[in-house]
Amino acid sequence: MTVITEIEDLRILARKRVPRMFYDYADSGSWTEGTYRSNQADFQTIKFRQRVAVNMENRSTASTMVGQPVCMPVALAPVGLTGMQHADGEILAARAAKAFGVPYTLSTMSICSLEDVAAGTDQHPFWFQVYVIRDRNFMERLIERARAAHCSALVLTLDLQILGQRHKDLKNGLSAPPKLTLPNLLNMATKPRWALGMLGTPRRAFGNIVGHASGVGDMGSLSAWTAEQFDPTLNWNDVEWIKKRWGGKLILKGIQDVEDARLAVASGADALIVSNHGGRQLDGAESSIRALPAIVDAVGHQIEVHMDGGIRSGQDVLKARALGARAVYLGRAYIYGLGALGEAGVFKALQIIHKELDTTMALCGRTDINTIDRSILLPSSF
Ligand code: GLV
Repeated sequence: MTVITEIEDLRILARKRVPRMFYDYADSGSWTEGTYRSNQADFQTIKFRQRVAVNMENRSTASTMVGQPVCMPVALAPVGLTGMQHADGEILAARAAKAFGVPYTLSTMSICSLEDVAAGTDQHPFWFQVYVIRDRNFMERLIERARAAHCSALVLTLDLQILGQRHKDLKNGLSAPPKLTLPNLLNMATKPRWALGMLGTPRRAFGNIVGHASGVGDMGSLSAWTAEQFDPTLNWNDVEWIKKRWGGKLILKGIQDVEDARLAVASGADALIVSNHGGRQLDGAESSIRALPAIVDAVGHQIEVHMDGGIRSGQDVLKARALGARAVYLGRAYIYGLGALGEAGVFKALQIIHKELDTTMALCGRTDINTIDRSILLPSSF
């Protein structure tokens, strides 16, 4: 097997090991995938200033996110269907994040439930992501369940009242568990590790929803659930309602516009995430790294500004931090690790990112992540 030295190695291995419909689900964007691609590509246009002969001993990447200590300013993003990339995927990813010292965010659309992840991490606090769902009783119970599971922050997604179309999901007939059609069976037959893992776990459907939402006994399709249950009337009053119900740290995900960033501040949230949902929603939206500086300039002194989208290296983390993001989230970068090697793969992804971040910071002539600002970048690049 090839030696794994970068996130791209994990991606290639995951593509071999994960059934096509789940690999494609994670690795695609909406419509033309233009925003999905620019999230990554725009990082390449930002250049560091190389500084030399600076003492680079005793470096630290430690920071905080919404007041919680992190060994680097990186969290694992909520990703739907994580437990279909690898059996018990959410439990494994949460364990790797715990061992590394960064937050793990569980998606509402996960396979393992809140309770499964709490039990699988010995009640170590993790974060939980919610959407605004029409059935408010279900939402209230979900928030209560998150509290009971010791979640230490709630991440509210604001950019998915309606699902951006991802062509491959429709073409592949995405569902969880996968329907046992001939093409699916033939494809899964080429993924024996994955299949064995899945046979060994009872967790193969949407664990937070099936059996919890009224009238939902069996739910195969993500798009069917979102079409029926995600609330298109979502507005800032709902944000206030959730903030009151939850009462703890609240992070608003999906902000791309300065006006919305101001409204996020007014809502009293603790942080916002500059995000276009990994290029999976509004195709044609600006990349997150390009949207970031204006939002930081407008509200960075009033609220923690985080970002996600396109992060595949520690260099990307440092560039985002230089442009004012207090922290970033990894989505695909750890999902590839999970699909490739399970818990060890998620840990490996974090190790790779951390090493790149630490070395890059040193080569920019800095030893403490908390001193990073735009001065480490060439002015022509932002
Ligand atoms: C859900 O959040 C998705 O992007 O599929």
